[in-house]
Amino acid sequence: MCGIVAFTGTNQAAAILLAGLTRLEHRGYDSAGIAVIYPDRPELQLTRQAGKVAKLAKAVVREKIVGTCGIGHTRWATHGVPSEANAHPHRDCSGKIAVAHNGIIENYARLKDELLRQGHQFSSQTDTEVVAHLVEHNYNKLAEAAAAANGGGDDIATGNATGAGSNDTGTSNANANATGAGSTARADLAEAVRITVSQLSGSFALAILHADHPDEIVVTRNDSPLVLGCFEGGAIAASGLPALLEYTRDIAYIEDRDLAVLHRDGQIDYYDPAGEPFTPSTYHVDWTLEQAEKGGYPDFMLKEICEQPRVIRDTIAGRFDEATRSLSFDELPLTDEELANIDRIVIVACGTSYHAGLIGKDLIESWARIPVEVEVASEFRYRNPIINSNTLVIAISQSGETADTLEAVRQARRAGAHVIALTNVLGSQITREAQTVLYIKANLEIAVAATKSFLAQVAMLTLLGLYLAQERSLLTGPQIQELYGEMSKLPLQLEHILADTSAIERAADSCVAAQTALFIGRGVGATTCYEGALKLKEISYLHAEAFSAGEIKHGPIALIDAEAATPVIVVATQSTTHDKTLANIEEVKARGASVIAVATEGDGRIAELADYVIYIPPIRECFSPITASVPLQLFARHIALARGCDVDQPRNLAKSVTVE
Ligand code: G6P
Repeated sequence: MCGIVAFTGTNQAAAILLAGLTRLEHRGYDSAGIAVIYPDRPELQLTRQAGKVAKLAKAVVREKIVGTCGIGHTRWATHGVPSEANAHPHRDCSGKIAVAHNGIIENYARLKDELLRQGHQFSSQTDTEVVAHLVEHNYNKLAEAAAAANGGGDDIATGNATGAGSNDTGTSNANANATGAGSTARADLAEAVRITVSQLSGSFALAILHADHPDEIVVTRNDSPLVLGCFEGGAIAASGLPALLEYTRDIAYIEDRDLAVLHRDGQIDYYDPAGEPFTPSTYHVDWTLEQAEKGGYPDFMLKEICEQPRVIRDTIAGRFDEATRSLSFDELPLTDEELANIDRIVIVACGTSYHAGLIGKDLIESWARIPVEVEVASEFRYRNPIINSNTLVIAISQSGETADTLEAVRQARRAGAHVIALTNVLGSQITREAQTVLYIKANLEIAVAATKSFLAQVAMLTLLGLYLAQERSLLTGPQIQELYGEMSKLPLQLEHILADTSAIERAADSCVAAQTALFIGRGVGATTCYEGALKLKEISYLHAEAFSAGEIKHGPIALIDAEAATPVIVVATQSTTHDKTLANIEEVKARGASVIAVATEGDGRIAELADYVIYIPPIRECFSPITASVPLQLFARHIALARGCDVDQPRNLAKSVTVE
């Protein structure tokens, strides 16, 4: 949540910042702003707007922002309402320092009190603004110390990032000249930021500008993502890869509280928290700019839904060796003994990834006979979960940066578990914290509501379940071959579903004005419903809940209102419990529900019971979440569009939740 971009180089900064913010807008989109240093004088031009980046872009043109060094931000509000005053970047008292921030400064209230006591003046309700004032404070102290060391005057402190002031980690002995006005001395901006970082707690990715330093930007991070790259035109840093893809695919990450200084000539200097220079590891990413574009589709969500046949094909490909009739998972470093010792699997995740975990539980338990628990990561971290070295923890996160999931990974590792990260983003934080990484092949996902990453997660967990069963000798080579063969039909089946969506649209049209929608199913069908209901509420704001069909008599059936013909969406594909599901349809029909069934082609009985039937091709029950989820995604999208909603950027949400 929140996206930051920083650029310094030879090109105009505003265009690069706006392009980057647009590509990061899925991270937060309630307000946006940029700050650029004037090319000919040490002052900042600041433009901020409540609303989306497109609105900011108009203001930038109107205000003729020029300059080649700047920072930008697109916000998902945590402290203070979305407004121009609360939009980033935030400035210090002198107006020379600007800060863009993603995360939460947890000790901001205490810092703010101290800074207020010293005379600093605040103009927003945000936690971020303390950073601007704290950098100002530390910068002025460094400048004054340098001036004093040189006998006063307009001296320039040119120490490196390990320079003067490194022992000062509090503001209590601060110089009372809060505004810094009168101090014309220049200090080491990186060192001022380094000291500031040591005073902050919480999560942050920060980009910091100083008008007296027109050729550099200092960036840092703690628990929030930041990716850096350089190219012919300069150096760029951002919260996510999409902002960089136009310029470079060779990227670097920094670790917690490291600092990087971006220079106009494209050079980036890296410093660890003690101020020691280091060379970061670099990665080459194979994502492309085209993946960050809509490519002719009306929205990213539809584009990503339509990419699913390819995603599933890529995820399945190459896992099965016909000669040995076995699946391979070369990424898994576990020895036979370690595999045999696993007595429990714990899956931790949030949101859609959690739903993928629920489906994974069913499959792993049924094939590999290992007990699996699935936990919401935000709860896991505050419980005292039973984890030991015989527990295999699978942390699922599309983005690889969800704060709660990352903390669950740390907790599991501290307890001695082996942690597998299942993620989509190369080099993301989770890949650096887990022992093993399984990459899903979803490629860049931009729409806030996850679609293709969900299907890829489910496919990967399906393969993992089969693999664990194989390694535990619970499925034979021929059995695996048969199951893998059937799984390989999925891409074609998805193409078939996507080829004709008219039945889905007819069913969706009947729900546009509904007040609530219920989803019911059994077994993996119920879990498919949880995700279907989440998709619907996320993007259409229509209240939706999912239940195990067998549970409805124990309460939810009371929600069915005959007068309103409450829609009940039933995942009723072929399964061992199909007859039971049909009985549940009878029950809800008898109470006046309007039934929309997702059923298997050739199922004539369902047509007699349901008001609308969406047929999908026949597939074994264990693989049905992959096919049945697609009509539910399209169903949600169609309703959302009919209700006038922005399907890519639904209200109040963000693609990745980097704060608790
Ligand atoms: C946010 C997104 C969801 C996503 C969840 C978990 O809530 O809006 O779409 O499922 O985070 O994200 P992750 O990146 O960890 O899978």
